[in-house]
Amino acid sequence: MAKVGIFVGSSGGVTLSAAEKLQELFDGAELINMEEDYNDLEQFNDFDILLIGSSTWGQGDAQRDWVDPLYEMSNEEPDLSGKKVAFFGAGDQETHGEFFVSALGKLDDIFHKCGAKTGFGHWSTDGYTYKYSYAEKAGKFCGLPIDDINQEDLTEARLTAWAEQVKQEMKI
Ligand SMILES: Cc1cc2nc3c(=O)[nH]c(=O)nc-3n(C[C@H](O)[C@H](O)[C@H](O)COP(=O)(O)O)c2cc1C
Repeated sequence: MAKVGIFVGSSGGVTLSAAEKLQELFDGAELINMEEDYNDLEQFNDFDILLIGSSTWGQGDAQRDWVDPLYEMSNEEPDLSGKKVAFFGAGDQETHGEFFVSALGKLDDIFHKCGAKTGFGHWSTDGYTYKYSYAEKAGKFCGLPIDDINQEDLTEARLTAWAEQVKQEMKI
């Protein structure tokens, strides 16, 4: 059976809660909190499927626990070929609508650069209102945006539907 690793960086707990829900939805998935459980890039090698979670901060940046690993990935380009990857994360489309969940777009770029198979779990922009998002690629988000500040009531259903979609697309 394919091994699923959920790697999550979350400052206020919103993306972490989403990761915990995803852990329930993906049988046998392991959750790696970037703040507490992450050691080095080698950890990606333990899994066939990576669900990568990060909230967005600053000017559309990844959550702080991702900063060093992403820098290392950019420089070292570890070989992630053969791994299927999908992205999710929290943002705020109202107050930070100029960079809404932009971190997902940056993560997508870096994992793609390392040879991982991306393109899973792309999500319609319908139902979100924002000015700009670097996560919007070819008319869709390159992962699942959640927004507990403005649309908390939609989060659980979004996660459930997204998990189903990813399982079908990845054939797991
Ligand atoms: C200083 C600051 C900057 C932020 N920048 C962004 C941003 O650029 N884009 C975005 O979508 N959300 C932004 N947010 C909103 C957070 O991503 C949002 O609060 C999210 O729920 C945090 O998730 P977490 O608890 O998983 O860390 C920002 C919030 C703060 C306080």
